[in-house]
Amino acid sequence: MKEVEISVKYFEYSGPEELSSDYQLLVEKAKEATQNAYAPYSKFRVGAAVLLENGEIVVGTNQENAAYPSGLCAERVAIFYANSKYPNQQVKAIAVTSFYNGKFNETPVYPCGSCRQVLLETESRYNKPMDVIMYGSNSIQMVKSAKLLLPLSFDVDLKAKD
Ligand code: THU
Repeated sequence: MKEVEISVKYFEYSGPEELSSDYQLLVEKAKEATQNAYAPYSKFRVGAAVLLENGEIVVGTNQENAAYPSGLCAERVAIFYANSKYPNQQVKAIAVTSFYNGKFNETPVYPCGSCRQVLLETESRYNKPMDVIMYGSNSIQMVKSAKLLLPLSFDVDLKAKD
């Protein structure tokens, strides 16, 4: 038996002004999008903005439903919409923001497990990692690949190996 440790490298910024101008805009679009969320049950508004290879920005918000599991997170709404509209455009980055009780949350919002799985599939689909920017008004964190948010993930290549 051996013990193995997995470590994750992420970048932390004290505010959007420390980000590149591309990513400042992406965060701004994700923040704006929170106001279009449909979150009558949780009141927790999430906005996601996806940056594509062609420079387009596509946004999404969480869409809730009275039958709770039928709702969808902002990240998946944004990614699925981007991939539907521009199926051949690599996803370069996604920014995620959240708004609750009249203000943007101070701590970053992290994608849920299902969204991580979808981000991962998007990376393998385009064969390129994406930057995941998780916004909080007191700090912003970024990982350089969705893989870092989902270690020991299911390897689609395994299916081709037997
Ligand atoms: N939610 C997202 O949209 N993205 C996340 O990463 C976490 C959670 C939504 C789901 C639900 O509508 C609300 O936030 C509260 O859980």
